[in-house]
Amino acid sequence: MDQAEQLRNIIKKSMQNNRPLARVITVTSGKGGVGKSNTAINLALQFKKLGQRVIILDADFGLANIEIMFGTMPRYNLSDLIYQGKNIREIITWGPGEVGFISGGSGIAGLSNLRQEYLNYIIQNLVELDAIADIIIVDTAAGIADAVLEFLVASGEILLVTTPEPTSITDSYSLLKALHRHSRFVQEDSRIKVIANRVGSAAEGETLFNKLNAVVSRYLTLPIEYLGMVPYDNQLSKAVMQQVPVSIQNPNARSALAYEEIAAKLMNKERNKNLRKRGMAAFFSHIVNGKKTG
Ligand SMILES: Nc1ncnc2c1ncn2[C@@H]1O[C@H](COP(=O)(O)OP(=O)(O)O)[C@@H](O)[C@H]1O
Ligand SMILES: [Mg+2]
Repeated sequence: MDQAEQLRNIIKKSMQNNRPLARVITVTSGKGGVGKSNTAINLALQFKKLGQRVIILDADFGLANIEIMFGTMPRYNLSDLIYQGKNIREIITWGPGEVGFISGGSGIAGLSNLRQEYLNYIIQNLVELDAIADIIIVDTAAGIADAVLEFLVASGEILLVTTPEPTSITDSYSLLKALHRHSRFVQEDSRIKVIANRVGSAAEGETLFNKLNAVVSRYLTLPIEYLGMVPYDNQLSKAVMQQVPVSIQNPNARSALAYEEIAAKLMNKERNKNLRKRGMAAFFSHIVNGKKTG
């Protein structure tokens, strides 16, 4: 059996017996510092309030974002699963609000060089996440690095965070262009949803989206949808300084209410009619297979 076939078998097995599949949502942006990690954490907390079990995968190589913002140090990270034989439950850290997170650590960057037996072990473990979580939020690094694009290509749902800063639209556009060009990107399999962050008003958020959408629909013919906006909010930056997510620190802050609204939209049945949950195993093997076979 070759390695691709082995992986397919693991995934096939994971889909038998009507096993539940988690919804995998990837948060990304054209450049850093626009609010991805805040989006990941606060949406996770809002999903939790709506009764969903949520796990965040911190895949921002090197930068241990989520743990800093949660003020919780993980005991283990993905590397410990890969190299120390820890299992998936041991590497999940439970943060405030009972949101779980997995710190990618250096494990993410090393994925492409792993031997097959390691990969099988990881994927077998990740399959278990589908039973532990309803929603898995992947917080990626910014930009068009190959490793980021791999995550986006594998993801059925992409949340693109954009801000009104002058370069933000061009950076977002560059990211979408790189994604669109990627050899394994399948337009029909991915939905791209835009969040306008740090805006002054709802109108500014819509204008921002319309500007981006104008170039994207003209030059890429790639459908993107507007998910909503998060206002510029001092309460959010204060909360970050204190290492408590704003949705916990001040649930009625303008930004927290905006995240609440966006989470509700993402859970809206009507909007999700055509959404196909893929599960974690499929997500991951997509990344791994792609790396191995080009
Ligand atoms: N809606 C907002 N209002 C005010 N400040 C914000 C908002 N979103 C993000 N920030 C600021 O931007 C910083 C970077 O956010 P972060 O979520 O860490 O971005 P990224 O993960 O994209 O690098 C935060 O520490 C915070 O100070
Ligand atoms: Mg971040």
